[in-house]
Amino acid sequence: MCGIVGYVGERPCRDLLLHGLQMLEYRGYDSAGLSLLVDGRIDSVRAVGHLSELQDAVARRANGSGPPDFESTTGIAHTRWATHGGVTEDNAHPHFDTKDRVHIVLNGIVENHTELRRRLLDAGAEFTSETDAEVVAHLIAHHYAGDLVEAVRAAYNDLRGHYAFVAMTADEPGVLVGARKECPLIVGVGEGEQFLASAIPAFLRETRNVKLVNDGEIVAIRPDGVRFLDASGARLDRETIEVDWDAETAEKGGYDTFMLKEIHEQPDAVAETIADRTPGDHVELAELSDELLAGVRRIVIVACGTSYHAGLVGRYAIEEWARLPVEMDIASEYRYRNPVVGSEDLVIGISQSGETADTLAAMRLARSAGAKVLAVTNVMGSQATRDADAVIFTRAGLEIGVAATKTFVSQVAVMYLLGIKLAQVRGTLADDVITRLVGELKQLPHLMTELLERVDAPIRAIADHWKATEFFLYLGRHVGLPVALEGALKLKEISYIPTDAYAAGEMKHGPIALLDKSTPVVCIATDMPILDKVLSNSAEVRARGAHVIAVATDGSTGIDEQTDEVIYVPKSDWLLQPILAIVPLQLLAYYIATERGLNVDKPRNLAKTVTVE
Ligand code: AGP
Repeated sequence: MCGIVGYVGERPCRDLLLHGLQMLEYRGYDSAGLSLLVDGRIDSVRAVGHLSELQDAVARRANGSGPPDFESTTGIAHTRWATHGGVTEDNAHPHFDTKDRVHIVLNGIVENHTELRRRLLDAGAEFTSETDAEVVAHLIAHHYAGDLVEAVRAAYNDLRGHYAFVAMTADEPGVLVGARKECPLIVGVGEGEQFLASAIPAFLRETRNVKLVNDGEIVAIRPDGVRFLDASGARLDRETIEVDWDAETAEKGGYDTFMLKEIHEQPDAVAETIADRTPGDHVELAELSDELLAGVRRIVIVACGTSYHAGLVGRYAIEEWARLPVEMDIASEYRYRNPVVGSEDLVIGISQSGETADTLAAMRLARSAGAKVLAVTNVMGSQATRDADAVIFTRAGLEIGVAATKTFVSQVAVMYLLGIKLAQVRGTLADDVITRLVGELKQLPHLMTELLERVDAPIRAIADHWKATEFFLYLGRHVGLPVALEGALKLKEISYIPTDAYAAGEMKHGPIALLDKSTPVVCIATDMPILDKVLSNSAEVRARGAHVIAVATDGSTGIDEQTDEVIYVPKSDWLLQPILAIVPLQLLAYYIATERGLNVDKPRNLAKTVTVE
């Protein structure tokens, strides 16, 4: 999740843009850049690393050769969280066309970038980066005939994906044109000046008046005004609203905490993680070469904490769809277990930070034993990327809350991509089944958005009722078990309530003794082949007086009778249900912890990245 900001007005904008980037730092980045329109040409500076690198480069440029471009009153800037192409200056934004007349900054993913790049290369374009975003600059230049708004609209109609971008051309000083396809874009309205940005903090110091850009809209800003239109070119009206956020609230996107912001960013995280890996009706994982898969007879997944739970979902999906045996182990056990591993194994190390010591050690152990190692991580350039033969990046953007949320669902999304890809390679699923699964995978971000809206109030009520409880139990079976484990971990991490999670079938072998009339039991009862068994376990615990809060699938029957209250999640293929079922449990932990007055972003005794053994 990159950060973009643009300015048109009467004031010199270089420092306004640099300040805007500073305020977007929380979005995380590995490189940054800006472009300024000066005397009919565009001057651009980009730098890898911390924002100070860019500030130094800009200062060197201002004191060195060329015009004092801090005079410029039209400019765009960007902080990059790399997804396509390494962390290099060439891949940093702004990107530009062959004639260096059109510059753009983009946040998100262009799904059909390969096809567009081919078309534009055939038309004579010269590319300078490995990114998906660069095609937008060349596409706008390709359509440009003296009207930037029209060129952006034409390009917008050629693009597919999950993005927002801002463009400028040296041929039209004093105008910026932006477009939104699901990723956030906002106008900051000023006196004789306007801002365009991916988030309000970028311009909050300058103005509190904003106009929201809705999905599918194009917006043109000039010093004297803002124009909205839809993809067909029809004009749209837009009211100005005043935001009363302070800087800290703004950094949290208007949410009270980073954790709640990140819970609400999950639809975007999943959408960006699957975006260009599901072209049409199948999965493409360029990172997973035939050479890497050749001779693989078994998969071994190693990870810690929440990442381990994502791997558990992966095991069910890969075994079910690809009929490959999957062994799971927590990395801190695996590395000392003297495991049997070798050249016929693909070992997958899952780590959002890519720096967890136990997971890295487990990956290195497997690699030294001849296994092929795949890292699934959220951080480009992290150690895990160097300890693996291949890397699949989740695209959740920077996660600040210690309790992992959006990185979990994006890891689960990668597990689903892996399961379907392996099934494609091994021919273990019929084409129509793959087509259906890929279609449902693409629907998940929309289902998550709908779910976040509908469960908030009922979950708050449950949290309020149980906030003082002294013990919580979570139960799950089959693919519901990792959801129970992850839901319980969230509650433990941020509410400090003693909580246990158990395979429901194991209850009668001991833990059932823990139950009495005061015990709330969360039961994962989403659609699955053994749902009836889950419901009979629910009946078992209710018979001991415990109170069952079930998570179930829309349209399923017989749940109410066997439980005390039910949270329904939207319907999908049963193996995709975990990515939805975890959302109400994240919110339950969140609201119980906040009701108990706890700091959910920085819980006691925990660090975001565990680099110690
Ligand atoms: C999850 O909320 C915790 N922060 C923790 O369990 C975490 O998942 C674990 O430390 C693994 O971290 P990683 O994904 O960065 O390797």
